[in-house]
Formats: sequence, C-alpha cells, structure tokens
Amino acid sequence: MNVPLPHLAPALRDGGLDRTFLQDVLGGLSAPKKHLSAKYFYDRRGSELFEAITRLPEYYPTRTELAILDRDGPEIGAGLPPGAALVEFGSGSTAKVRRLLPHLTDLAAYVPVDVSEEFLRSEAEELGRDFPRLRVEPVAADFTKPFALPDDLADAPKAGFFPGSTIGNFEPEMAAGLLASFARTLGAGATLIVGIDLVKDKAVLDAAYDDSAGVTAAFNLNLLARINRELGADFDLDAFSHQAFFDENLGRIEMHLVSRRSQLVTVAGVPFHFASGETIHTENSYKYTVPGFRALARGAGWEHARVWTDPDGLFSVHALTASTIRRQ
Ligand code: TRP
Repeated sequence: MNVPLPHLAPALRDGGLDRTFLQDVLGGLSAPKKHLSAKYFYDRRGSELFEAITRLPEYYPTRTELAILDRDGPEIGAGLPPGAALVEFGSGSTAKVRRLLPHLTDLAAYVPVDVSEEFLRSEAEELGRDFPRLRVEPVAADFTKPFALPDDLADAPKAGFFPGSTIGNFEPEMAAGLLASFARTLGAGATLIVGIDLVKDKAVLDAAYDDSAGVTAAFNLNLLARINRELGADFDLDAFSHQAFFDENLGRIEMHLVSRRSQLVTVAGVPFHFASGETIHTENSYKYTVPGFRALARGAGWEHARVWTDPDGLFSVHALTASTIRRQ
C-alpha cells in the first residue's frame, strides 16, 4: 500500500519516518485478518521487556536452555571440530554463547551475526574483554537473508549456533528454508547447535506467554505504542488486550491484540476499523517434538547427530550435521 505524503503528520514528512515500517503496518492492518510483523517488537522498550520475559517464573524456555548448555556444554563442545569458527545467527545479548565458550577451547573465531550494528559492536567488545584469547569477528547482517562470512575464516571448519527456539517464530516452511540457508552459509560438513522448545501441556505453554505479572502483555502492547510514536497513529492502548494461547492442532502459540470494543484507529492518516473482539495477530511460536524437529531439519539438509533435553523434557538442544546443501 502506498501512502500519499500529504496524509502524514508534518513531523513524519520531514524525515525520521521508516517507510518500510509504515508500509508493513498499513499492509498488515488492511489484510482481512489483521496482522503485524513480530520483527517490530524490538525497539528499546521492547528489548527491555523481552529481557524481563526471559526472567519470568512462567517463562521456562530461557532458564531451561541455559541449564542444558551448562550441564551438557562439555559434550556439546567436544562434538565440534578443532579450530572451528562458531557463527551465531541473531546473537542478541550473547548471554547464551557465554555459557558455551568456556567449553570451546579451540575456536578459530566467534562470529556474532545481528542486524543491530551498535548492539553487536558493544557486545563484541565486552565479550573480547571477558574472553581475551577469543577472536571475535562480528558481522552486521540480517540472518534471514544470504550473507558472507569473513574471508579469513574460509578454511576453518564451521559450526552454527541458533539458540532460543527462535526457529519456532517462523512458519515451518520458512523455518526449513532458513535451516537450508544456514547450511549454504556454513557449508557441507558443518555442525549446527540449535535450541528448540518442545510440545507440552497446554496450561504450561499458555502461562509462559500470558504471565501473571503482565510483562508479556506489556511487550505485545508496546508494539502499538511504538506505532503511535513512530508512525503518528492513535491506538488507545487501554482499548486492546493481550491474548496468547497454544493451538494444539497447529502446534503453536499464537499471540494477538484483541480490540475491546468497536473502534476506529488512524495510522498516518489512514483509518482502520476494528470490530469488538477483532484481533491483530502479532506472533507465532511453534513447538516441536524431537522427531518432528528432526524431520524438519532433515528436509533442509541437516542430519541429526545428538539431542540434549532437561529432566522434565521441556526444552531441547540439537546438534545437526550439514549433509546436503540444498540449492536456493
Ligand atoms: N523465540 C522465543 C519464543 O517464542 C522468544 C520469543 C520471541 C518470545 N517472541 C516472543 C517470547 C514473544 C514471548 C513473547 O518463546
């Protein structure tokens, strides 16, 4: 959808407006089933709220994955070839790789890949201070698109690291495409260490995405606050509520923002009507069984090597080997 500029508030017309963000929001709200892209959750406030989510009592994935990395780190590390370059896709805060690094004594380099260049530099510097013998070679890139690894690592064996069950935030078909592109980036014979949240009791899953303190609700609603601020919209945050539930048929958590009444919202001069109870779909988080994830990975050219889980079977960390490189 193309917005004629005169509709825009003067402040937005004079620069500072992210046209892609605007087009994505207008497109998503014009669809028969309204949706917004989850990638816009992470402004400064959104990133802070996300960090808070990872510490919630109901949100088990982060602490469970960290416990697996702590307990099984020596074994995970022993499975990587000596002199490997470790590439982390969407490195974010580097909290997880810090748990692995003490077990990876023979790394050629650690390559954090992230879109946020500023965050990437500061995290890389800090990591360099804490692990002085580690070579850190950050790459500022969107890992969902093809990108090149640093030239000097051409001859090093490659290992990928993709924790946090981030793969679950992609549609299964997209997830397979992403795994195939990781194989192309890392090359045949590479290893991939990937964290996958597991299918479990609906009540446990529902609570993890709708906590009693309302942090996940605030995280979801912050998307509307961001649209108000950056795109000159007039969402009334009290008129929308957070909804999250596990759909057992689709095997995924769905997050929505529910309109509490019939209302009109204007985004950059464009009006959108919401019926009472109508929702904006903001994110999915697919959960897998161990065999289900293996099948997905195999279809993308990754053979299963090992799996580690916690005693309660909540979360899994997989080691995969790139057997075939699927062309794009
Ligand atoms: N990938 C993780 C998950 O799906 C983290 C995450 C992404 C998340 N978006 C979220 C957690 C929204 C809570 C709410 O659990």
